[in-house]
Amino acid sequence: MRQNSTAAPSVATIRGDFPILQRQINGRPLAYLDNAATTQKPRAVIDALVNFYERHNANTHSGVHTLSEEATALYEEARARAARFLNAPSPRCIVFTQGTTAAINLVAQGWARHHLRQGDEIVLTVMEHHSNLLPWLGVARETGAVLRYLEIDGEGRLTATGREGGGIEGAVSRATRLVAVTHVSNVLGTINPVKELARQARAVGACVVVDAAQSAPHLSLDVQALDCDFLAFSSHKVYGPTGIGVLYGKEEYLAAMEPPASGGGMVLRVERHSYEWMEPPWRFEAGTPNIAGAVAMGAALDYLDGFDREMLRRHEIELTGYALKVLGKRADLTLHGPADPAGRAGVIPFSVGGVHPHDVVEVLDGQGVAVRGGHHCCQPLMEHLGERGVVRVSLALYNERQDIDQLAHGLDRVAAIFRNDR
Ligand code: ALA
Repeated sequence: MRQNSTAAPSVATIRGDFPILQRQINGRPLAYLDNAATTQKPRAVIDALVNFYERHNANTHSGVHTLSEEATALYEEARARAARFLNAPSPRCIVFTQGTTAAINLVAQGWARHHLRQGDEIVLTVMEHHSNLLPWLGVARETGAVLRYLEIDGEGRLTATGREGGGIEGAVSRATRLVAVTHVSNVLGTINPVKELARQARAVGACVVVDAAQSAPHLSLDVQALDCDFLAFSSHKVYGPTGIGVLYGKEEYLAAMEPPASGGGMVLRVERHSYEWMEPPWRFEAGTPNIAGAVAMGAALDYLDGFDREMLRRHEIELTGYALKVLGKRADLTLHGPADPAGRAGVIPFSVGGVHPHDVVEVLDGQGVAVRGGHHCCQPLMEHLGERGVVRVSLALYNERQDIDQLAHGLDRVAAIFRNDR
């Protein structure tokens, strides 16, 4: 599926890029199906990290010696790489952060708390991850703004009112000042119509923040086509290292933001009683950044964009359809999320009647299958679904039918154990 090769590589070839997939877990081949939590890393990313520390390590923007200049150039190349990944108009729109959570908090603390007022409306959805909910609850408490939630229908698709098949007409009102929405639900896999939400927001002059943590691995992102004001994603969910991520912001929004953190590397001039910040994006990167992480994230984006993304998406839809079919046959499971695999990313939540999700995860682990169970940092969504928690299967480009078959075998084991237990 790489663009620069004549033939699409098989999944077996792709799996060869990921050393960890050779591991056995509890005496079985690893079926890694917890990719929404974090993805595994290809050799190219591991090598980029090692290469940085072996050959280029120094602090950025401070030294004039060779290594510092090399480290600075690599760090700034990574910024330009992230801009290309998002089709951002300029690297100046890219702020490096610790990840999506830090990026959304930066918008909340740096922009929203200075621009929202009593009675302003913040529109969220009921499927938000706590990372795209708690920062806005904080802003609402500080400013007197109010939160309004878009609902979902029986298949986990967004509706303005919760009416079945109701669509999202009227999602935004004249009081709306900010719309903060996940592009892809980390629990349901639902792909949300963020472009349409942005269109509605634009009509009332509201700011649009997109949580792309779960869409960046699965969909090609284009911030200019989406016409959002901010967008955040994490490196570790797109095959890069942990501890680094990106906040994209339109230049006029970044210019209107206050840096919540200050210190070295973000000021031009400091006097005893005054100071002058650097331009964005550097003014938002106080302290020594995660230089090696940014460089290795650049390698991860090269790796992902080295594939034909349309072909990856077709592979994912096919595998999601297969998983829905295999899991849908089981009378002991309740599946959530859109029935059409094309309407969701490869994220599939389910509950097993009468069995706690953590018990399911533990039994599956014994069969070499890694999935996540619990509320997935989405407690309002769990309340809406009437679940205490769910088991979640989440796919990546290296997954294949055999992983789903191993999962089904593991679920037979869950059924056998808990049938005897009851
Ligand atoms: N947000 C990540 C998940 O959904 C950690 O698992």
